[in-house]
Amino acid sequence: MPAAIHAEGLARQFRVLRVRPGARADAGGGRARGYARVDALSDVTFSIEPGQMVGYLGPNGAGKSTTIKLLTGVLRPSAGTVRVLELDPCRQRQRLCAQIGVLFGQRSQLWWDIPLIESFFALRYIYALGAEDFRRQLGRLRELLQLDAFLQTPVRQLSLGQRMRGELAAVLLHRPRVLFLDEPTIGVDAVGKDALRRFLLEINRLDGVTILLTSHDLGDIESICGRVLLLHQGRLIGDGPPAEMTRRFGVRPVLILYFSADGRVRTDQVRDRLPPDCTLEARADGALAVTFDRMALTPPQLLSRLGDLPILDFRLEEASLAHAFLKVYGGGA
Ligand SMILES: Nc1ncnc2c1ncn2[C@@H]1O[C@H](COP(=O)(O)OP(=O)(O)OP(=O)(O)O)[C@@H](O)[C@H]1O
Ligand SMILES: [Mg+2]
Repeated sequence: MPAAIHAEGLARQFRVLRVRPGARADAGGGRARGYARVDALSDVTFSIEPGQMVGYLGPNGAGKSTTIKLLTGVLRPSAGTVRVLELDPCRQRQRLCAQIGVLFGQRSQLWWDIPLIESFFALRYIYALGAEDFRRQLGRLRELLQLDAFLQTPVRQLSLGQRMRGELAAVLLHRPRVLFLDEPTIGVDAVGKDALRRFLLEINRLDGVTILLTSHDLGDIESICGRVLLLHQGRLIGDGPPAEMTRRFGVRPVLILYFSADGRVRTDQVRDRLPPDCTLEARADGALAVTFDRMALTPPQLLSRLGDLPILDFRLEEASLAHAFLKVYGGGA
């Protein structure tokens, strides 16, 4: 089966105006101003199979939104090729639009001043959807996204979480096969995020929709994406399941140990009982944090080695994508 999304050697540069230091921004003439080239994306190659749900991860300015714009035909690549459902997004944009959905969480594609439902009616005509088809899909989305309470409300009066549910319905009305979501949970509270995550899992499972998703909430990606692509300064630096990424970037689980106050356990007593590659750190609350390699030692094995010490309580902090993110982008990897 051909890939749903394929990017090969994808690159995009921007020419940006730079005002020379000391020069007034509004000064005319070439000497005060100059152009600089920004490499927003360099030599990015990946393929996404139909039905996959992939997280696209990177810090601010890494090139995530630029990639989505290239994949949806909003921007033209400076180099490389892109195929989405075997179509060229720039040259075959209209054909592609009928089969994809794009959501930029920062912007709205709904009509601001009219009730939400009216935007859906307008989209029905834009996508030339049959009456029955539209009725069925809208009914489904109303139920899955619980839209009924605010269908008649003008979009400008919706809360952020309500608007995002409306936006998702709008991009799914025409039953796209591929969905691009750029920060779909931005500003949404924990309950709303959880509902959106479950919704995305549901449409992925039921309809086999291929989803490429960016988010600064790594919990979004960790909980729903079986695969992540890591982007750094416009280059792809990692591709695999979230757990593999955390391992690859050397992020390990941490066992936090609490000893009884009168036990007087010295750090070196713990040290002596553990393999040399475990690291120990005393925490401000008196607990001891043991970082260990899960491949070499399971938490029960670790605890049994310390069984003769007066352990009062313990807590396991799993290696998370958030830790890997901090390590990679915070300069620790
Ligand atoms: N239209 C543009 N003109 C000039 N530079 C741009 C343009 N769009 C993006 N850039 C630059 O390209 C780089 C990548 O931007 P992009 O918006 O793709 O990042 P991002 O990964 O989506 O970041 P964020 O997490 O902040 O949304 C940045 O350096 C940005 O300033
Ligand atoms: Mg962005």
